[in-house]
Amino acid sequence: MAFPLFLSLFQLLLITSPTLIPFAYANESHRKLSLSSSTLNFPKAQAERLIRQLNLFPELEINISPGHPGNLSGSRIVEKQFSLSCLGDSGATVEDLGHHAGYYKLQHSKDARMFYLFFESRKSKSDPVVIWLTGGPGCSSELALFYENGPFKIANNLSLIWNDYGWDKVSNIIFVDQPIGTGFSYSSDKSDIRHNEEEVSNDLYDFLQAFFEEHPQYAKNDFYITGESYAGHYIPAFASRIQRGNKGKEGTGINLKGIAIGNGLTNPEIQYQAYTQYALDNKLITQADANTLSPLVSQCQQAIKSCGPDGGTSCRQAYSICNGLFNSILEIAGNINYYDIRKQCISNLCYDFSNMEKFLNEKSVRDALGVGDIEFVSCSGDVYQALITDWMRNLEVGVPAFLEDGVKVLVYAGECDLICNWLGNSRWVHAIEWSGQKDFEAAPDVPFVVDSVEAGLHKGHGPLSFLKVHDAGHMVPMDQPKASLVMIEKWMQGTLPVTGIADKLSTQ
Ligand SMILES: *[C@@H]1O[C@H](CO)[C@@H](O)[C@H](O)[C@H]1NC(C)=O
Ligand SMILES: *[C@@H]1O[C@H](CO)[C@@H](O)[C@H](O)[C@H]1NC(C)=O
Ligand SMILES: *[C@@H]1O[C@H](CO)[C@@H](O)[C@H](O)[C@H]1NC(C)=O
Repeated sequence: MAFPLFLSLFQLLLITSPTLIPFAYANESHRKLSLSSSTLNFPKAQAERLIRQLNLFPELEINISPGHPGNLSGSRIVEKQFSLSCLGDSGATVEDLGHHAGYYKLQHSKDARMFYLFFESRKSKSDPVVIWLTGGPGCSSELALFYENGPFKIANNLSLIWNDYGWDKVSNIIFVDQPIGTGFSYSSDKSDIRHNEEEVSNDLYDFLQAFFEEHPQYAKNDFYITGESYAGHYIPAFASRIQRGNKGKEGTGINLKGIAIGNGLTNPEIQYQAYTQYALDNKLITQADANTLSPLVSQCQQAIKSCGPDGGTSCRQAYSICNGLFNSILEIAGNINYYDIRKQCISNLCYDFSNMEKFLNEKSVRDALGVGDIEFVSCSGDVYQALITDWMRNLEVGVPAFLEDGVKVLVYAGECDLICNWLGNSRWVHAIEWSGQKDFEAAPDVPFVVDSVEAGLHKGHGPLSFLKVHDAGHMVPMDQPKASLVMIEKWMQGTLPVTGIADKLSTQ
């Protein structure tokens, strides 16, 4: 998931001009919070706040550890097969259901180990290989594994239960903890912390090469990159890295067929501009509020434009100003859950993911996964902060090349999410300049039907798809598990409906 941060208005006023927005919007309790925290350290304070809103309390701010699991000299990957007992019926039609946990020693690092979990398909080993990336930045992909699209879910008594809609029903799926310092991934050297998409995508590419060396029987399968939220940054960068590797004949050729971004942050200039309209359409703010906010919207646009490719101060400033805009909307909207505007954040918790931390700290689970004494850092404030100058980068730039090469691109969005809302996503997808842009523009919105009910609206042309998912917030597979499974399967098969007639045919 993603978690842009929520700079309080008062902090914004401290670091920029005191006349941006009527001071009356500032919430008293936030004001106290911001006064007590250092304005220089604001991204971190905000990251900590959002981590607590998920009811997560990692013991470390980042996984820097002398470590040990996976520290075997000579081999790049140390992997073990595991089996956790699980209630219910897996529905598996393959005999040996391979579940693997491993560490990969990052090639271009001082001492970093990337943790991953690999679940072979319950249906067929020839299913596509899918990698999932959770956002944050700095949150573990185990969040998705246990609360969204993984093979099992955690019951309140910490038993595992098979997930009938896990994406491992239609794919061989990998969940990685990245960037380094997140989840069970660690380094003994703080200089291994990543600051931009170049570093992030090189690590993922190196990992994938080692992964297919370890599992050569899967290297020929179709390959898809999926993820959510801040992964709207990671995914295009990773896909570009793969294309460069394939074209330069580096290592194993990767059979990249498509990328899917769920409620992502990809093109900040367009997406930040959409906040006021989305908030207005959903009656979170009034037209008068929107008018008041409009100078801040312009400032945010200017700031993003001046955030150049070198990062640095201007990008940090853009982050502050634009998240100040987002925060101002929240101040007006009250105590809503910005991942799902249908909900309130109860006692400062938007969600409760604490069972994951409890489960992953059980000794039997740690032994099964081979993680030794390594702490589990569910969401790392330090990893988040290290990527602050990466935030306002436009990652849309690589996408036209995928489309021209026939690599499928699916952007989907739960319609109740504010933070990476469908409107901003739809706008950047429409703005992509490629040979099919006009045809995409002209394509109809076609009902995406699951169990005879309209689960969303799909618009597609050639390799490009946009799907607005009904009754879902930021985490689509959590809110609409079945629809999300049908979506990913049909998309990979190329059978998402593009006209009313095709829809009827494909559901017969
Ligand atoms: C990891 O292994 C290397 C080589 O075997 C060794 O030099 C190093 O001290 C080990 N690091 C840790 C933290 O155990
Ligand atoms: C744990 O919870 C699950 C789901 O509610 C239930 O099926 C199971 O029997 C429970 N296990 C124990 C040991 O109570
Ligand atoms: C200010 O925020 C607190 C906690 O987030 C909330 O309980 C309170 O209702 C908010 N006050 C206003 C005026 O929005």
